[in-house]
Amino acid sequence: MTLRAVVTGVGHYLPERVVENAEFEKSLDTTDEWIRSRSGIERRHFAAPDETTSSMATAAARAALEMAGTDVQDVDAVVLATSTADLTFPSAATMVQAQLGMKTGFAFDIQAVCAGFVFALSNANALILSGQARRVLVIGAETFSRIMDWTDRSTCVLFGDGAGAVLLEAQDGDGTAQDRGILSTDLNSDGSHRDLLYVDGGVSTGTTGYLRMQGNQVFRHAVSKLAATATTAMERAGVSDGDIDWIVPHQANIRIIEGTAKKLGLPMEQVVVTVQDHGNTSAASIPLALSVAHARGQIKRGDLLVTEAIGGGLAWGAVVLRW
Ligand code: ACO
Repeated sequence: MTLRAVVTGVGHYLPERVVENAEFEKSLDTTDEWIRSRSGIERRHFAAPDETTSSMATAAARAALEMAGTDVQDVDAVVLATSTADLTFPSAATMVQAQLGMKTGFAFDIQAVCAGFVFALSNANALILSGQARRVLVIGAETFSRIMDWTDRSTCVLFGDGAGAVLLEAQDGDGTAQDRGILSTDLNSDGSHRDLLYVDGGVSTGTTGYLRMQGNQVFRHAVSKLAATATTAMERAGVSDGDIDWIVPHQANIRIIEGTAKKLGLPMEQVVVTVQDHGNTSAASIPLALSVAHARGQIKRGDLLVTEAIGGGLAWGAVVLRW
């Protein structure tokens, strides 16, 4: 028998305020047409002033626990992927732990920017396979609206806020690719590309800072690195593109999503796309897409999924899992 980390619950939270592309036309030299055609984004949600990454993460976690029918006291760990934690410390994950009323276990944040949820899934999988936890809440949550330079049209139209969560539970499998749960992971980073995508603030500057991105350079890296990491993860899992039911990509740009699907040899009918409604929610984008696709009835029990993401660092990776 082989231990597997299986998704037993999924949920998400989106702030109430929806901002359509046209709203940016009032304050910036941009158009709905430019944003749609270059990124695929039509609208995004922005958090209310009293909402934070931890409050949105808590709402998503509650939804995942409810779907799983699991009491929070039976959860061993909270792993939260974010680059926009409420404070420098403590971790947003411990704030979620407190808001959920979880009295035991442990909680920590993972910071791999847009690749954060893939890194969090991989680490939570390792916690389960090594016997350190049996039930792990894995969350991606972001408040990127708080790190936007609203005068920079090349970045501020692209991002949004939100949170998504899954509950991973240890279950016995038989060690084949037919098992439910995480079948393989692949993580990568290359710190030499730091200047392509970063926030120009932090403890070294005494400011929160704003997101800075050389979008076309990141774009060039994205398609090749995403297809490569997804292929590596599929090889590790012993599956090929013909076995995959769904690609659940990081939702940054429809052209990156389409280019990666093409390289992987899969049609867009097998790709979960939410970028039009959420924009780029960084570490929240994959769990949001998983939750929305589950609610739409796209992803069903037993389906084989590959997720892939790339972001600041650069950091990138993929996970193959059977739902
Ligand atoms: N409205 C109108 N024009 C604009 C806007 C805008 N909102 N933004 C930029 N432009 C202009 C630029 O100024 C430029 O004008 P110029 O030619 O006169 O200099 C022109 O449009 C083309 O700009 P590019 O940046 O080359 O446009 P591109 O086609 O590359 O699209 C985009 C830009 C959407 C940012 C794309 O490059 C992209 O999606 N990149 C990848 C982003 C990504 O995946 N990031 C990783 C995850 S994010 C994370 O980790 C936090």
